[in-house]
Amino acid sequence: MSSSSDLGSKVPLKQIPGDCGLPFLGAIIDRHNYFYHQGRDKFFSAKIQKHQSTVFRTNMPPGPFISSNPRVVALLDALSFPILFDTSKVEKRDILDGTFMPSTAFTGGYRVCAYLDPSEHKHALIKRFFLNLLASQHHKFIPLFRNCLSELFAELENYTSDKAKADFNTASDAMSLNFVFLLLCDKYPQDTKMGSNGHKLFDKWLVLQLAPIATLGLPKIFNCLEDVLIRTLKWPAWIVKSDYEKLYDSFWASAGALLDEAERFGLKRDEACHNLIFMVGFNAYGGMKNQFPALMKWVGLAGEGLHKQLAYEIRTVVKTEGGVTFGALDKMTLTKSVVYEVLRIEPVVPYQYAKAKEDLVIHSHDAAFEIKKGEIIFGYQPFATKDPLVFENPNEFVGHRFVREGEKLLKYVLWANGPETEEPTPDNKQCAGRNLVLLMCRLMLVELFLRYDTFTVDATNTFFGASVTVKSLTKATTF
Ligand code: HEM
Repeated sequence: MSSSSDLGSKVPLKQIPGDCGLPFLGAIIDRHNYFYHQGRDKFFSAKIQKHQSTVFRTNMPPGPFISSNPRVVALLDALSFPILFDTSKVEKRDILDGTFMPSTAFTGGYRVCAYLDPSEHKHALIKRFFLNLLASQHHKFIPLFRNCLSELFAELENYTSDKAKADFNTASDAMSLNFVFLLLCDKYPQDTKMGSNGHKLFDKWLVLQLAPIATLGLPKIFNCLEDVLIRTLKWPAWIVKSDYEKLYDSFWASAGALLDEAERFGLKRDEACHNLIFMVGFNAYGGMKNQFPALMKWVGLAGEGLHKQLAYEIRTVVKTEGGVTFGALDKMTLTKSVVYEVLRIEPVVPYQYAKAKEDLVIHSHDAAFEIKKGEIIFGYQPFATKDPLVFENPNEFVGHRFVREGEKLLKYVLWANGPETEEPTPDNKQCAGRNLVLLMCRLMLVELFLRYDTFTVDATNTFFGASVTVKSLTKATTF
């Protein structure tokens, strides 16, 4: 096992290998390999093999005509990756989705927080507003999320007993939006203009923004058609204009107290509302949409042995602590480790991008490389968090990996856009919901193993993340 400081300083300076091929053609070839011929992981591992380096130049989708410059320096190991978090050296302006940015017409004409660089005054203003907002709702986190989980598991139980299977993703999506909206606005989304389809309105809005970097995984015969349809021009926001208006009206009418508070922070009321919608719909709901299925997939597939250990730990701690409290959750070392392991093995936001603010030298395990001011740096996180020189058996799901001594490895867990040992602040770009996400994932396991001894799932991997079917839930026999 190696640390960045041991290796970083002693390695030779090399030229970054790889070229991006001919203009236009190189980008098209790379994107076809990436989406259709090789697939994401093979695309990157083939380039690592070819260049014998975890740092190289490549094109990243979408390319022509949506992004004017698809050329990036790719970082695919645990040592070089963290440069993406150093906002004194890299710029995060308009680069959330990669080498292109969706039209601001999706967000009321505003560049919302996630597209702002910390050097822009407004970033700290909005992020501080969000962090304060979440802190002020802290007391609601456990009881409210447990209520939402009760409804979720009741629904899954109904389906598994009636039909011997339950679609986890659909039930989890509705639950996730209910939770965030109840947390912030104190009412169910269905009691607003968005009605019972709020999560579907958000889905449409998300898909249109992210279409250029996605694929539906259709049969090969449709590949070229799909590529031309979603990667030639950006899809316009007017397609979802009326959906977005419903979302906007719902937040405007229900989040009055929050918008008052935003005005006290110095934000305009409508700008705060668009930012709130983006945080709830893109950051929070968009994240939870993939995070909870990933959790159920890995824990479900780990099998009965791990389930027994989790049930034992959770039930014992809840009994001795007298309930499900922040203190009790903190004592559940295996449960915490299992959540970190899911976040490590399948970080659900797999890409991070930034632009070099100055000439930089970055280090991989075996070489140092110079990056010029203005170059785009790209990290594929699943490779950084499965770096075999940092993690033993990196492709294996090891539930107790982060227990005791294993905690030292937490600095290499990066899912929240920063090392797990650091906190989100108004001055960095780390996920504002980081601590809430950790809490929700732990609570999901707690609720699961207070109710059930074990469960089984079928899981498939789509481009958008895990798709999970719950096949059985075996009621708890003790406690
Ligand atoms: C559930 C899973 C979630 C995941 C995997 C996730 C992941 C991330 C990541 C990777 C980023 C950084 C994106 C980038 O700049 O490259 C981010 C940013 C952000 N997240 Fe999360 N997030 C989740 C949930 C949440 C929740 C629940 C909230 C709030 C309620 C939230 C609020 C934010 C905000 C406001 C930002 C922008 C931070 C900034 O611009 O400084 N996220 N999230």
